[in-house]
Amino acid sequence: MLKVPIEQIEPGMVLARPVANPEKPDHTLLKAGYEMEADKVARLRAIGVSSIWINYPGLDFLDDVLDTQVISQQQELYSSLKENFNEAQQESLSNIDYRPYVEQMRNLFHSLLAHDNISAAFVNELHGQSNDIYRHCTAVASMAMLIGLRSENQLLKARSNMNAQQAKDLTSLGTGCLLHDMGKTLLPEELQTFRISAMDLGSAEWQKHTEIGYDMLKAGLDPVAAQVIVNHHQHYDGSGFPKRKQLNGTGAPFFPLKGTEIHIFCRIACLANYFDSFRYLPDGRTAPTVVALKRMKKPGYASWFDPELYRIFTKAMPAFSPGEQVTLNDGRNVVVIQVNDDYPCKPIVRPINLDDALSPAAREQKEKQPIAEDKPAEPTAVPAEQQAAQEDAEDKNDPSKFDIDLSQDSRYFIQKVGEFDVSSFLH
Ligand SMILES: [Fe+2]
Ligand SMILES: [Fe+2]
Repeated sequence: MLKVPIEQIEPGMVLARPVANPEKPDHTLLKAGYEMEADKVARLRAIGVSSIWINYPGLDFLDDVLDTQVISQQQELYSSLKENFNEAQQESLSNIDYRPYVEQMRNLFHSLLAHDNISAAFVNELHGQSNDIYRHCTAVASMAMLIGLRSENQLLKARSNMNAQQAKDLTSLGTGCLLHDMGKTLLPEELQTFRISAMDLGSAEWQKHTEIGYDMLKAGLDPVAAQVIVNHHQHYDGSGFPKRKQLNGTGAPFFPLKGTEIHIFCRIACLANYFDSFRYLPDGRTAPTVVALKRMKKPGYASWFDPELYRIFTKAMPAFSPGEQVTLNDGRNVVVIQVNDDYPCKPIVRPINLDDALSPAAREQKEKQPIAEDKPAEPTAVPAEQQAAQEDAEDKNDPSKFDIDLSQDSRYFIQKVGEFDVSSFLH
């Protein structure tokens, strides 16, 4: 299967995975196996679906990049969080019972543990859905767990006062992340959508969401999860918030926390939180992963993160994920086959022809269509030696012969994800 940006979806392509309503992700709009029709393509674009998974011959091995159980657990988390908080806001937030979240996070943690090296593709499934606070919190929780799972040594070191099993248990990390911004629900509405940047760390009133959330939730949570809520904006370089308070409550406040003074779960939460926030651009568009990653590397942001955990994070969240369809600088559509750990923006890719994803009937009909006069120029011709390799590969029926290792071939780079030009964000 193949993840195709919505702009390139055509009638006759067949869904490999169900498509959910971005506003109500637990509500399936189209089932797997459905053959796309023109009006549905237009409708999905109109309601903000950014990409969908379709069947494509010869890419069955990519089916494993998504674990359906983990995706549905994540979806359930999102739905129950949204439902409970919406209901509670009508009455009182103190009525919320947090225990089910602890249980759900524990279940998600164990599902993730059951996989060796699970990919981050499941977190991306939330990307592109309606960007409400509940989606953000669910994505941060999933991403944080993923980083935590790969940080075994760091966890054992930072939590050396516990036995190994306790030190590696990420339930409190997940629960804290899931609820980290709930303090925002008590802020005035105009403040709820504010986005932090290196230039603007937010007003004192906005920054208070960390302490509001902590006060609101600490009674029902374990102290570590509560700490994640209050300290998810503590930056590794000491530029974050809130400041420490003096125990007797008098005098000027101390500085914010810094470096390893910050609990390892809060350092992980900080990474996951900014990554997810950076995927949403000031103009409201959603940005491809590579754009958010590049932003995190910029001076002004890079020092906010624990460098060791940041390295782990970049391995957990590749700039381009297997199964993702992107466009090269010569206009060819390719699919990411394999991530290159040393060069995150130069994966191994395979040229594809999206017409091969059409059902036989749709393909036949397309071939019959006259070529429009204003048809845009065809992509640059495939170089002769590559064409020869393609023909050779066709003979042997080995599609991997088409593969291009972008780290080895400097003529090509990834130019676009859908309509988004990512060439200035490669790193
Ligand atoms: Fe926050
Ligand atoms: Fe957040």
